[in-house]
Amino acid sequence: MTSFHRGRRLRATPEIRTIMRETAPLLVEDLIQPYFVVETEDQSFRKEISSMPGQAQLSLGQLEKQVEKAVDTGLKSVILFAIPAHKDDKASGAYDANGIVQQAVRLLKKRWPKLFVMTDVCLCEYMSHGHCGILSPEGVVRNDATLPLLAKTAVSHAEAGADMVAPSDMMDGRVAAIRQALDENGLTQVPLMSYSVKYASAYYGPFREAAENAPACGDRKSYQMDPGNAREALLEAYADLEEGADALIVKPAGPFADIIRLVRDHVDVPLCAYQVSGEYSMIRAAGLNGWVDEQAVMLESLMGLKRAGADTIITYFTETLLAQKLAR
Ligand code: PBG
Ligand code: ZN
Repeated sequence: MTSFHRGRRLRATPEIRTIMRETAPLLVEDLIQPYFVVETEDQSFRKEISSMPGQAQLSLGQLEKQVEKAVDTGLKSVILFAIPAHKDDKASGAYDANGIVQQAVRLLKKRWPKLFVMTDVCLCEYMSHGHCGILSPEGVVRNDATLPLLAKTAVSHAEAGADMVAPSDMMDGRVAAIRQALDENGLTQVPLMSYSVKYASAYYGPFREAAENAPACGDRKSYQMDPGNAREALLEAYADLEEGADALIVKPAGPFADIIRLVRDHVDVPLCAYQVSGEYSMIRAAGLNGWVDEQAVMLESLMGLKRAGADTIITYFTETLLAQKLAR
C-alpha cells in the first residue's frame, strides 16, 4: 500500500473538524461595533446609511436605544464617529468639551460603566474641506500644524471618559503628540490604539456617506499609505510603538490580510483589524441579492482576520454576530 497524506481523515465529520480547527471561534470580546452619532436636537433622528444596509446615523437618543439592545446580546466594545452640526477650517467641534462625541461618551459610560468605549480621533468629520488635517492655502495638508489639534481632541475624548483613543488621521508624529498631551493632563492610564497601518483605500467609500467626511478636493493619498506597500507597514508600526502606542490597527482588513500577518509576526502589542465599510457593504450587497450565503461569507471573512493574526476586530457585523449568537 503506497502511503500518502490522508488529509480527509481530519475532515470526516463536523465534530472532528471543529476539534481540530487551528483558529479559535470568535469571542464576543473580539468584536468592536462602530457607531455614527449625529449632533441634533431631534432625539428620534435615525437615518439609514443607504450604502451600508443595516447601519444608521443616530442621534444620542437613538444611540442609547440601539446600544441597549446590543448590550443585551453581549456587546462589550464600541468605537464612536461623529456627524457634527457645524464644520469649519480648524475642526472646532472635534475638541469641544461639549461636542457630539464627548456627549456620546459621557452618555454611554454613565449608563453602562463596563461598556468599553473608544473614540476615533480625527479631524475630517469636523473640517469644512473634509481632510484629516489643517489645509494650507495651496491645498496641502499641513502635518505639524495639525498635531496640536489632534492632541486636544484626544484629551477631550479622554476627559469625557473614553476608555481608549484611536487616532486615524495618519499625520506623522501624532502618537507622540497625543501621548504627551494625555500624560500632561493626568490621563496617563488612558491607552492609545493607533491606526498605524492605514491604506489610502477605495474600500472606505460607504463610510464617506456614513460620516459625511469626503474630502472636498483631492484625496488622502498624501497621508494614507500606498496599497502597494508592505514593508512600509512595519516602518509605520515601529514608529508608532516608539512614540507610545499601546496597540495597533491594520485597515482595511481582508484585502490586507498579508499585512496583518506581517505586523503580527514582527510586533508584540495587541493587533486590531478594521473590516471597513466597503468590505461590509460588498458582503451585505451580495447577500441581499442572494448571490452568496451572507452569514457564511461574513463568518469566513472574520475567521480569515483571526487566522491572519488579528487579536480583535472592528466590524459593522458586530451587532448581527451577537444577535445571532455567532460569537461566544
Ligand atoms: C477617518 C476615518 C475613516 C475611516 C475610519 N476613520 C475614513 C477615511 O479615512 O476616509 C474608514 C472606516 C470605514 O471605511 O469603515 N479618518
Ligand atoms: Zn480623518
